[in-house]
Amino acid sequence: AQGVPGFPLPTIHTQQAYAPDADFTSRWTRADAMQIKAHSNPSVAAGQNSLPGQLVMPDIPEDFPLINPDVWVWDTWTLIDKHANQFSYNGWEVIFSLTADPNAGYSFDERHVHARIGFFYRRAGIPADKRPANGGWIYGGHIIPEGAQEQVFAGTTYTITAEWSGSMRLLDPNGNQVSLFYTDMAFNRNAAGQDITPAQAVITQSLGQIHADFNHVWFTGFTTHTPLLRPDGVLYQNGAQNPFYNFRDPFTFEDPNHPGVNYMVFEGNTAGQLGVPNCTDADLGYRPGDPNAETLQQVLDSGAYYQKATIGLAVAEDASLSKWTFLPPLISANCVNDQTERPQVYIRKDKYYIFTISHRSTYAPGVDGPDGVYGFVGNGIRSDFQPMNYGSGLVMGNPTDLNTPAGTAFAPNPLQNPRAFQSYSHYVMPGGLVESFIDRVEDRRGGTLSPTVRLRIRSDMSMVDLRYGNGGLGGYGDIPANRADINIAGF
Ligand code: FRU
Repeated sequence: AQGVPGFPLPTIHTQQAYAPDADFTSRWTRADAMQIKAHSNPSVAAGQNSLPGQLVMPDIPEDFPLINPDVWVWDTWTLIDKHANQFSYNGWEVIFSLTADPNAGYSFDERHVHARIGFFYRRAGIPADKRPANGGWIYGGHIIPEGAQEQVFAGTTYTITAEWSGSMRLLDPNGNQVSLFYTDMAFNRNAAGQDITPAQAVITQSLGQIHADFNHVWFTGFTTHTPLLRPDGVLYQNGAQNPFYNFRDPFTFEDPNHPGVNYMVFEGNTAGQLGVPNCTDADLGYRPGDPNAETLQQVLDSGAYYQKATIGLAVAEDASLSKWTFLPPLISANCVNDQTERPQVYIRKDKYYIFTISHRSTYAPGVDGPDGVYGFVGNGIRSDFQPMNYGSGLVMGNPTDLNTPAGTAFAPNPLQNPRAFQSYSHYVMPGGLVESFIDRVEDRRGGTLSPTVRLRIRSDMSMVDLRYGNGGLGGYGDIPANRADINIAGF
């Protein structure tokens, strides 16, 4: 086995598939994540990019256009079927985004507690270079009638609610019934914005209908909100165990290996009380006798056990996707990273890829990586997943100098690469296209869609396709459908 001198070898992962309900959780280990640092250039000038070029999103220009000056946009998803095909509807492409009001007096960094799911549409079938620079999306407003999602929190104490990420399923590709899966959030905060009790995060379903005519797209429904999953504290950490637990971002799909069975992946944390120093040698993942391995005691002494992300799995118990049961997590990142967000399942050539987004700021002490999208590949929905690219997990990060602290998007380190926070919330679409939102480029904040980029994915490797678009950057918010739903009755 070859590695990088001075660094440990990555964990051996077989990609072997297990039954979806098996009690096997694959680990993104410290040995795996260490490969990111191992492949980062230790001697670039401060503020340059230290990461391998094929794993870096090209620089977004500072003069990016806005999708709409009157709406902030971040996490964005598409209208998908059970296999994540992206549908247009009656000749319109449609996207769904977390949105907030840029004119309401709060800052971009304060947007999360105000998040509402909005939608945009544009005519399908027009090449990116024939569209306006901002992608030509028309804003259609909010999806959920004002306040309807608060029914989930009836009888509980809260001060403000928000709608966080999820996915939109087209239930019948010849019809107009859609199912929204999203994270219904309720916060109970004092005037200073601090939590009085932990936020409630409930993975929720709401049904609606899409409509279109020659002039526009609109939705009806979304009046009934069915709570599907709350973290149980047994498989997934809850608010009593950690007031800052992560539990959100449902993505549903049918597994071709289990026809007719629907699964959901979501962001979670390993269950158990926060602050218990119980990562294991298996979480570290070093090979026996690796001279560059850390000891378990060193890792525990660093406090790395505060970071314990998981990618969760649940199975639907009914055809209407309104009853779900937790299964053990697919992947844990104990003592590695605290957030594996917006997970999705992407199947290519019989390989199952889990893509997820994560932050530099949520890494545990002693491991490091950029803000961006990470990937894991195996032979089934539950596998001994192999982290992609040198066993590291990194698929595409923002240009980042890992030798220099990051700061935050709000207050970036002036010595850091000015694009270390350029984009986030990457979603991998059919054909390897990747959409995301712009957070900060140089001194300019975003709240709009990034240029789409394309990944070339081969087995456990990927690279950013620099021949796509302009030096690797496609159109801003270019989010094309790969399937069409022509519903004549809807006209
Ligand atoms: C990712 C994310 C999601 C969450 C949303 C909240 O950008 O953290 O996990 O649903 O943003 O704004």
